[in-house]
Amino acid sequence: MNIAPRWDWLSGIYRTKIKEHASIQDVIAAGKTTSRLASRLDAKNWESIEKLGRVALPKRTAEGQGYVSRGGFKMQQLHEAEPQFFKDDHVILDPCAGYGGFAEYYRTAMKKKATKVFIMSSLYEKGHRVPAGEIRQTATSNVDVVLATTVEHVDKGNIKDPRCSARLKELSKRQGGVNLLIVDAGEYSVDEIRNHNFWYKKGRTGVDFFTAVLNLISTINAGSKMAIKINGLWHGVIQLIHNLTKNFSKIKAIKLGTTGLSSPEWYLLASGREDKEASNYRAFELIGAVSDEQQYHYLLMQQIIRVRDILA
Ligand SMILES: C[S@@+](CC[C@H](N)C(=O)[O-])C[C@H]1O[C@@H](n2cnc3c(N)ncnc32)[C@H](O)[C@@H]1O
Repeated sequence: MNIAPRWDWLSGIYRTKIKEHASIQDVIAAGKTTSRLASRLDAKNWESIEKLGRVALPKRTAEGQGYVSRGGFKMQQLHEAEPQFFKDDHVILDPCAGYGGFAEYYRTAMKKKATKVFIMSSLYEKGHRVPAGEIRQTATSNVDVVLATTVEHVDKGNIKDPRCSARLKELSKRQGGVNLLIVDAGEYSVDEIRNHNFWYKKGRTGVDFFTAVLNLISTINAGSKMAIKINGLWHGVIQLIHNLTKNFSKIKAIKLGTTGLSSPEWYLLASGREDKEASNYRAFELIGAVSDEQQYHYLLMQQIIRVRDILA
């Protein structure tokens, strides 16, 4: 098995050599074994293994650089991992913005760069994070944050509601169309079915999250990009990735440095929106690389726990 990290951009052109990867089935099984072994550890020991070699986030935003949410640090990592990808956007649409950490990072990190419009919107429902008011009041910046949704909107900012997507599309069109679509929603669950349902279970509106995102992808200008959080590895994820990315010339996966060894959550980057359709082999290769890396993380955890058991 190839376990080296290979977070490369994948285009439509492939090596003729077919690579073998850990299967999703293997990775899910390794995840279960890891949880079983880890259930014997107390919280402190668990964390020391889970975070081994990973980047530590400040516990509260006040201890860090003062972003409104830890989302700011996530955006920072994406930006630092792939500065060219985030370089030339004029219109950014972030429809699942939560507290607005990504917008805040943009306003701070790109305040002296070319002018940009950052359209943010989020779900105004009980239990969901909503944008923090202070974002727009931070020091002057060339990044103008536009709050597209307030509690007054009947669609409540739910992208599964066609009224919401129509509004966001119209707003983006008026700004010249979307150059970068960011979708940072969907928490990884150890329950595989929940991960699947997050994308495919229809909401009250009769629309599922996958269809809602596909609809927003249609607003991305030709040649432009998207960054989407993916809730791990589950049966069906290859098809999801293919369907989301088939009309992009290049795709790439990033597991953030702050994401623990036990979490298979990752970010999908896609650039160069075009009419041409990529082969579904590309999504297979991408998921193969994510699977190999996650399998390595699980096996590493298992090995450490077993060695501790022997030494104890
Ligand atoms: C992980 S949080 C985003 C964090 C954000 N990037 C930040 O920096 O604070 C995910 C957000 O997506 C929102 N969300 C989930 N489903 C949604 C939907 N159908 N429509 C709009 N927003 C949604 C959630 O309410 C939540 O606020």
